[in-house]
Amino acid sequence: MELRIALLPGDGIGPEVLEQAIKCLRAIEETFGHHFTTKEGAIGTIAIDKTGNPLPEETLQICQEADAVLFGAVGHPNFNIDPKAKTRPEQGLLALRKALGLYANIRPVQVFSSLVDNSPLKKEIVSGVDFVIFRELTGGIYFGEKKINEEETVASDLCEYSEFEISRIAHMAFKAAKNRNNKLTLVDKANVLVSSRLWRSVVSKIGESYPEVTLEYLFVDNAAMQLILNPKQFDVILTENMFGDILSDEASVIGGSIGLLASASIGNDNALFEPIHGSYPKAKGENIANPIAAILSAAMMLEHFSLYEEAMAMREAVDKSLKKGIVTPDLYPDTKYGTSHVGDFVADYILEYDDDDFKMNDENIGLGKSTII
Ligand code: IPM
Ligand code: MN
Repeated sequence: MELRIALLPGDGIGPEVLEQAIKCLRAIEETFGHHFTTKEGAIGTIAIDKTGNPLPEETLQICQEADAVLFGAVGHPNFNIDPKAKTRPEQGLLALRKALGLYANIRPVQVFSSLVDNSPLKKEIVSGVDFVIFRELTGGIYFGEKKINEEETVASDLCEYSEFEISRIAHMAFKAAKNRNNKLTLVDKANVLVSSRLWRSVVSKIGESYPEVTLEYLFVDNAAMQLILNPKQFDVILTENMFGDILSDEASVIGGSIGLLASASIGNDNALFEPIHGSYPKAKGENIANPIAAILSAAMMLEHFSLYEEAMAMREAVDKSLKKGIVTPDLYPDTKYGTSHVGDFVADYILEYDDDDFKMNDENIGLGKSTII
């Protein structure tokens, strides 16, 4: 398969984790005979420094011309301490989601059996957790009208949703539930917000066309609690933009590290894949950032193009790195391995995909000996 991939490394650890994902994609290319072409674009702080714009026109064009976008991270502490900064790196990502129409953000949460002890929660609570969050991504309070009065003493952000925006992601979430364990939980704040009540009425109506799927409703405050008390109860969670942002960060710690969680942002004409973690500026260039979320985002990209065996090879390789303890310090503080070692191991393991003898004796797989980059 030919795929044109736009690469947006962004800020902080974005470039180094993305580099590992690309290594693994090159290994897939070689092993399965595909052809992936890449074009890189600037976004976030680097783009602001270069052009004054967190999403330069040229970058948007690269993405529009690509089949898919692989994204690193955006964000820089300089902007966090200046609440008056008019231009912020995060605006680049938000503008990109809007411009590409990426309305459905899919965030799977799974606990790797080899990592149950890494979770801050008890083993019996986390082992076997497997759910997916469908977060609406181009509406709600993120994109509603923003106001501040002249004296800058009163400000507001509007949370607006239309039936159209709710139903397109709801259908996607119901279809996912049908292919999983037939349960969908709509998370909202319908006891307070009229926009949430619209979500409930639209989603319950759509639910009638998916009779095999059990539809449950949960207020977001309760959902935050349930994620910690009993995360195994969830199969598909459907929610609006801001609730999904917060709950997916919360959910990410269930598996032991935010550095493990991948995501796909899907629209009708394009798709973007990114780790859910941020730019982690303190770790930039230290070779300590966990590349697994970025690598698994690339696996989600392969699945998006129906390259299931390829994605499985990548996931299997990631599993193996975890089982063998070839992990970054967020998972094992005394590790001797860094970002690039994990990437090398996973890429090398993929390259040996067809070699069962080699895999049986995988002690042989050389770290840092990847020949493909
Ligand atoms: C995410 C991030 C973004 C968001 C930021 C960087 C704008 O936190 O993808 O979850 O809030 O959506
Ligand atoms: Mn977030």
